[in-house]
Amino acid sequence: MGAGNFLNAQSQKKNRIRKLAFLVLAILVWASTSSAQDSFSQPSLLNPAAEPAAGILDFGLLVIWICLGIFIVVFGALVFTLIQFRAKPGDEEKEPPQVYGSEQLELAWTIIPILIVIVLGLITAGRIFVLQKTEPPPESLAIRIVGHQWWWELQYEDYDFITANELHLPVNQVAFLDLESQDVIHSFWVPQLSGKTDLVPNRVNHMWIEPHETGLFVGQCAEYCGTQHAHMLLRVFVHTEEDFEKWVADQKKEARRVASVQAGRETFEQTACINCHTVRGVTEIGQFGPDLTHLMSRTTIGAGAAANDRENLITWITDPDHFKPGARMPAMKLDESEIRQVADYLMTLK
Ligand code: CUA
Repeated sequence: MGAGNFLNAQSQKKNRIRKLAFLVLAILVWASTSSAQDSFSQPSLLNPAAEPAAGILDFGLLVIWICLGIFIVVFGALVFTLIQFRAKPGDEEKEPPQVYGSEQLELAWTIIPILIVIVLGLITAGRIFVLQKTEPPPESLAIRIVGHQWWWELQYEDYDFITANELHLPVNQVAFLDLESQDVIHSFWVPQLSGKTDLVPNRVNHMWIEPHETGLFVGQCAEYCGTQHAHMLLRVFVHTEEDFEKWVADQKKEARRVASVQAGRETFEQTACINCHTVRGVTEIGQFGPDLTHLMSRTTIGAGAAANDRENLITWITDPDHFKPGARMPAMKLDESEIRQVADYLMTLK
C-alpha cells in the first residue's frame, strides 16, 4: 500500500467518525427537544399527576443518579488510568511495576457496592410496601375494574352503578381499585397516575391512585390480550370534589325516557341488544357488554376506538368491525331506518 493510499484511508476514517459523531449529536438534540415538547401532551410517566406515579418517578430518578455516580467514578478512573499510564517512548524496554493485591482497594470495591445494594434494597422494599396495599385505606373510593375483550367495566361499588372505559375520580382522594378479568389477562396502565397492574381471571389484584391534579389522563391496556389489545384505551377524568359529586349524582339516575325516540327504544328492547347491554330502568339482563344507561356521558365508544357521536354510533351499530375488527359485538343486521332510530334512542341516554 502506497503512502497516498494510506493517507486517503486515514482521512476517510476521520470523516466517518465525524459523521457518526454528528449523527449521535443530532439524535440527542432531537430526543431532548421532542421530550420537552411532549411532556404536557403525552401520557408520560416523567410527568406524574398522582401518587404513586410521582413516588415511582422519584425512586427511578434516585436509582439513575446513583448509577450515574457509579458511571462517572468508574469511567473517570478508567480515563485517568489510560492517560496517566499510557505507553511512553522508551517504555518498551522496562517492565511495569507488578502489584499483587491491595487490601484497601479490595475492601473498597466490596463494601461500597454492598452498601449501595442495601440502600436500594431497603428503599425498594419500602416502596413496594406502600404500593401493595391489600386493604383499602379509610375514606377511599372503592372501584372494581373488570377487563373484557376489549373494554373496561368500571363498577362504582360505593354508589351502585356501572360504567365503562372512562374512569372518573375526585382529586386528592385515594381511589382503591380491585382489578379482575372476565377472559384473558389485561393490564391497567395510566402512566401519569400509577404503574401497571394486571387483571387476571379468578384473582383480584389491587391498586390505588391518589390524583393531585384535575384533568384528563389517558392510558391503555398494557398486556397483549388479543386482536383489539391496541384499542383498549383508558380515559381517567380527575374532577374537583364538587364536580365529581355532580357526575356521581347523574350516573346514579336511571336512564332517561324520551317519548320521541320510542321506536328506537322498542327496537333495542326487542333485539339481542338487551342480552349484552344494560340500560338501568329499561332492561337489566345484559352483562357482557358495556352498561349503556348514561352512554352519552362518555366521550368515546368502543373503549376509545371512536368519538361518541351520532354518526359513529350509526357506523358502530351497522358494523362494529369497522372501528374494531374482531370486536365481540355482532352486527345486528337491522335495516337502515332501524339503525338510525336505535342511534337516536342511544343519543338520549345522557
Ligand atoms: Cu386488554 Cu390488552
